Amino acid sequence: MDSSASQAGGTALGFRAFDEADIPAVHEYTSDPEVCRWSTWGPNTLDQTASFVGEAVRGSLAESPTAFTLAAVVGGRAIGSVSVWTTDMHDRNGELGYTFHRAHWGKGYATEAVRHLLHLGFNVLGLERIGATCHPGNAGSVRVLEKSGFSREGLLRSHRLVNGARRDSLLFSKLRGEHLR
Ligand SMILES: CC(C)(COP(=O)(O)OP(=O)(O)OC[C@H]1O[C@@H](n2cnc3c(N)ncnc32)[C@H](O)[C@@H]1OP(=O)(O)O)[C@@H](O)C(=O)NCCC(=O)NCCS
Repeated sequence: MDSSASQAGGTALGFRAFDEADIPAVHEYTSDPEVCRWSTWGPNTLDQTASFVGEAVRGSLAESPTAFTLAAVVGGRAIGSVSVWTTDMHDRNGELGYTFHRAHWGKGYATEAVRHLLHLGFNVLGLERIGATCHPGNAGSVRVLEKSGFSREGLLRSHRLVNGARRDSLLFSKLRGEHLR
């Protein structure tokens, strides 16, 4: 379990491990087509959301975690899902991602979450490089990454298969040295 709290947009944003009781709150945003517009998953069925939360709960019980999938919470309620995970142990590479309930967009929460994920990735998981990908049309996510000091490395052509169609992705990264600076 990892938790922290901070002030973003005047409301306390915290991070904690998921609990099975979060499923209805999580499903509010994972089933929203607008939230999933640029994602490689969703809109979720309730079973898919329950499976996501169940996997996150099991992951949070790991003795030597190689990943964190956390609930972003306001007033105890899950309003977002944020993750940082190891993609290669030898090279110490990882990635991060985030999704927030539409009612909570534009409050600085994703930027705050990325700051927390960078801390976990570099200082707890011991990563040297953290990457992030997003659809070129996802202006909000691009801005969050640029604001968070990620470098835009290029375009991964035909990178994802989403609902039978191939999509490009933008590739971003941040290195340990850039984080500590
Ligand atoms: C993308 C997303 C995470 C942004 O979350 P957020 O909490 O609203 O982001 P922040 O409030 O931290 O905003 C950070 C910056 O992005 C800008 N921004 C946010 N959404 C934007 C949008 N749709 N278009 C343009 N800029 C946007 C903000 O204005 C802010 O920039 P500023 O400080 O220069 O004004 C949120 O819209 C979301 O959950 N989308 C659905 C899931 C998703 O796409 N996840 C990423 C997959 S790669």
